[in-house]
Amino acid sequence: MSENPIIVGISGASGATIAKATVDELLHREIPTVAVCSNGGKLVWQDELDVSFNQTLSEWQEYPMFNYYPINDLRAPIASGTFPAAGMVIVPCSMNSLASIAHGISNNLLLRSADVCLKENRNLTIVPRETPLHSIHLENMLTLSRMGVTILPPEPAFYLKPTSIDDIVKFVVSRIFVALQIDSELNQDLQYQQKAD
Ligand SMILES: Cc1cc2nc3c(=O)[nH]c(=O)nc-3n(C[C@H](O)[C@H](O)[C@H](O)COP(=O)(O)O)c2cc1C
Repeated sequence: MSENPIIVGISGASGATIAKATVDELLHREIPTVAVCSNGGKLVWQDELDVSFNQTLSEWQEYPMFNYYPINDLRAPIASGTFPAAGMVIVPCSMNSLASIAHGISNNLLLRSADVCLKENRNLTIVPRETPLHSIHLENMLTLSRMGVTILPPEPAFYLKPTSIDDIVKFVVSRIFVALQIDSELNQDLQYQQKAD
């Protein structure tokens, strides 16, 4: 179990279900977790999960190791390099947030927390979601990759023959936990079993 908190940034790209599964798994393992969600993230949450972000938030707030700060709270502890974060994942990461982070723009708490991770050389994992990608998207990913950021697109492992969205989500969450160095290898409980032909 990680002693220092993991920050989960949720932005307005498609894939709210992956963000929810990531936070659920962190809390299930009693790992201290701090969440921050952009305004776009809240919109997509409602559209994709048919539940408000605030409803999910109130469920997470039942856990003592969970903290949440509003997107404009630039005085929050995670806005400072003195906050002892074990790392941060942005899941899903919109092209807007990706571009901002790649260019050092930090005018909301999600972006500022990511910028802090970069300047403090902490683990930063980005789950970018858009398709197709244009050259600026790709260049922004390359910029961050060269700075040590893990770029982890939420792609299905077709070779494992997924049969449900849940299969795909579990696989991506399993990859996120490895990228954050919580797990050293893909977790068999999170991964779905390879189906027999
Ligand atoms: C339902 C919905 C789905 C969206 N999906 C994506 C997406 O997959 N990738 C993306 O880059 N933007 C997507 N957007 C657009 C972003 O939400 C928008 O660019 C927003 O300004 C991002 O702001 P943020 O980075 O602060 O969250 C989506 C918007 C909506 C309403």
